[in-house]
Amino acid sequence: MINITIRRATPDDAEAIDRIFATPRALWGTLQVPHMSVETRRKRIAEADAHTYPLVAVVDGEVVGQLTLHGNARERRKHTGALGMAVRDDWQGRGVGTALMRVCLDMADNWLNIHRMELEVFVDNEPAIRLYKKFGFVIEGQLTDFAFRDGEYADVYMMGRIRKKG
Ligand SMILES: CC(C)(COP(=O)(O)OP(=O)(O)OC[C@H]1O[C@@H](n2cnc3c(N)ncnc32)[C@H](O)[C@@H]1OP(=O)(O)O)[C@@H](O)C(=O)NCCC(=O)NCCS
Repeated sequence: MINITIRRATPDDAEAIDRIFATPRALWGTLQVPHMSVETRRKRIAEADAHTYPLVAVVDGEVVGQLTLHGNARERRKHTGALGMAVRDDWQGRGVGTALMRVCLDMADNWLNIHRMELEVFVDNEPAIRLYKKFGFVIEGQLTDFAFRDGEYADVYMMGRIRKKG
């Protein structure tokens, strides 16, 4: 049984987060750019606004996954939130993503009062789509040529999850 701890990221996690995105699947599945500076990552964590919750997953004292929950500050979109996540390639498929999602959705549902969560996912990213469906997200539409990935444009699905009542 793997012991996975989820906590808020600190600026000192920037290097470990950089190591996550240095692995090919983590880069491929997200909108990260190769060779981003660690300093930029550090700054993003240090300067996260009050609506942004950068979380990390820690196994045996090592950061192996990350998820950022973005609350929406706009007056009429305050009931919505978005997320982005990645697990280091050598840790994928071992429950880290599930642990991160559980904490994220507990925050969204029970503490931040977020009614609608949304995200974009590349249409060929099956593990991620399965994870999101497992947590109640549904495909709402497809955005054409949404991002440039490894030499070509790629489509994403827009996925949404409406919090269950009760
Ligand atoms: C998507 C991602 C975050 C999932 O995290 P993870 O730690 O691998 O996920 P888990 O081990 O908790 O598995 C969660 C679910 O994902 C699915 N899954 C995981 N690995 C899979 C694989 N290799 N193939 C198919 N489905 C897979 C399963 O449905 C699994 O649930 P189950 O075991 O109950 O069936 C991770 O694979 C990842 O970082 N991928 C690269 C970056 C990325 O794509 N980020 C998402 C951007 S939208």
